[in-house]
Amino acid sequence: MAMVNKTHAAWHAVDAAAEGIRRGSLAELFARDPGRAERFTTSAAGLLFDYSKQFATTDVVERLVALAEAAGLPDRIEAMFRGDRINTTEQRPVLHVALRAPRDAVIEVDGRNVVPDVHDVLERMAAFAREIRSGTWRGASGKPIRAVVNIGIGGSDLGPAMAYEALRFHADRGIEFRFVSNVDGTDFAEAVLDLDPSDTLFIVSSKTFTTIETMTNARTAREWILAASGGDATAVARHFVAVSTNASEVARFGIDTGNMFGFWDWVGGRYSMGSAIGLSTMIAIGPEAFHDMLAGSRAVDEHFRTAPLAANIPALHGLLTVFNASLLGHATAAVLPYDQYLRRFPAYLQQLTMESNGKRVRLDGSPVESPTGPVVWGEPGTNGQHSFYQLLHQGTVVVPCDFIGCLRPLHEFGQHHAILMANMIAQAEALAFGKPAAAVAAEGVSPELVPHRTFPGNRPSSTILVDQLTPRALGTLVALYEHSVFTQGVVWGINSFDQWGVELGKVLAQRIIPELESPTEPVLGHDASTNALIRRVRRARSGGSTDPS
Ligand code: F6P
Repeated sequence: MAMVNKTHAAWHAVDAAAEGIRRGSLAELFARDPGRAERFTTSAAGLLFDYSKQFATTDVVERLVALAEAAGLPDRIEAMFRGDRINTTEQRPVLHVALRAPRDAVIEVDGRNVVPDVHDVLERMAAFAREIRSGTWRGASGKPIRAVVNIGIGGSDLGPAMAYEALRFHADRGIEFRFVSNVDGTDFAEAVLDLDPSDTLFIVSSKTFTTIETMTNARTAREWILAASGGDATAVARHFVAVSTNASEVARFGIDTGNMFGFWDWVGGRYSMGSAIGLSTMIAIGPEAFHDMLAGSRAVDEHFRTAPLAANIPALHGLLTVFNASLLGHATAAVLPYDQYLRRFPAYLQQLTMESNGKRVRLDGSPVESPTGPVVWGEPGTNGQHSFYQLLHQGTVVVPCDFIGCLRPLHEFGQHHAILMANMIAQAEALAFGKPAAAVAAEGVSPELVPHRTFPGNRPSSTILVDQLTPRALGTLVALYEHSVFTQGVVWGINSFDQWGVELGKVLAQRIIPELESPTEPVLGHDASTNALIRRVRRARSGGSTDPS
């Protein structure tokens, strides 16, 4: 497999182009090339990607494409779609694309075509979703389900929680949906505060079914159901279903595996919202709309697999992310959806991007020589404008931004949508072109205020447009970012599909839990700070001082 490091000619070529970019400005790029907006806008699969306000030139794009080719991106795309074990540190294929493959596709893992398995689970999910939606499925006391609570964390929470918010407009409003993820008991307590156990269904979602937060919440939920049913253990079967790859742990927990919806170890947690992990989404929006979401992702999959890199939206998005992070040194990137329904999209992308590409060694274990995945963050517009956009416009760090907008609103009230879109477009314009001191002074601003009211501009952004926030559109947005992340990982030569970085903290917590709970004073062998913190929490737990000082 090709590995491109800093000494590679293709990297040098991009670096040289970046050098020129650092000396130039977006205003000059637009002035030099009247066709720029058109040249650097690409449409496919219902997505429009305008990257003309990035530091892209024909030369830069050509060099980035050459870099991707040198890193073997076209082969790596094929390897992923073919089901090769590209997640080498876990020896697994990476096949979220199989979750949305058409019924007649053939994708083999160990000689077995997995596509029929995918469709079998989708059909079981659909049958179950219809039972819940129609009220045919009854709780232990005979009542139809009125509330669905997904218990999961990370990829078993963020995708479903984001998708529910994003597609709420299309959801059955007769059913209440809640998402419990945090092991902080507050999350569970608040989620069920106004729910009735007799018409509540819990979906325990966990790929491994061993994650401490999820299992702790699931046990508490089981107690909550049992307390309401007078300890009748048969109630569990009517109020709990599981989504997992681990049938034996599901059975051990006490959930009938007949009420389990499976998926496979070749689906990464953060890439799993189109699998059975999306059960809550399917119950909310119905099986047909869920299939529309998958169809949107599939359209982007096909585009990613077949379009030339220079006209390939996820590849271009990924290459520009590499350019911004590694070559121009921008350590963070903001995602700014101008659609209130997408308010959880940045949180969802934080796991997708940072758990995937927050890596410092390459596939062969050697250190990556450039910065890798940027810190991704964001909030919906226009709210963010009244919060952190000050820094975006006049701060000392440059934050490349993705603006995401929908051409048609789901709620048509007077001027709302025009104001929303005007703001999105204006922000990208202001970031790119700013307001020079001379223009500020020409407005009669007093000289001492001119520096304060000057906008440097030259801050890159992309604008991504969809027609309307439909299930299909959401599927396209998700696949765009999934494949962008993949593109970045290939160029950096890292494994975007493992997450060893989350392990150490989990292991240390397992050691500290008994130290906090021990009835006798434990011998602590941590550093002085950790020991002192443990003693403080122990003191408060045992009724001693709760004054943290
Ligand atoms: O802690 C990280 C992680 O392993 C994520 O990658 C995953 O999405 C999450 O935990 C939840 O894991 P599970 O679905 O196995 O409960």
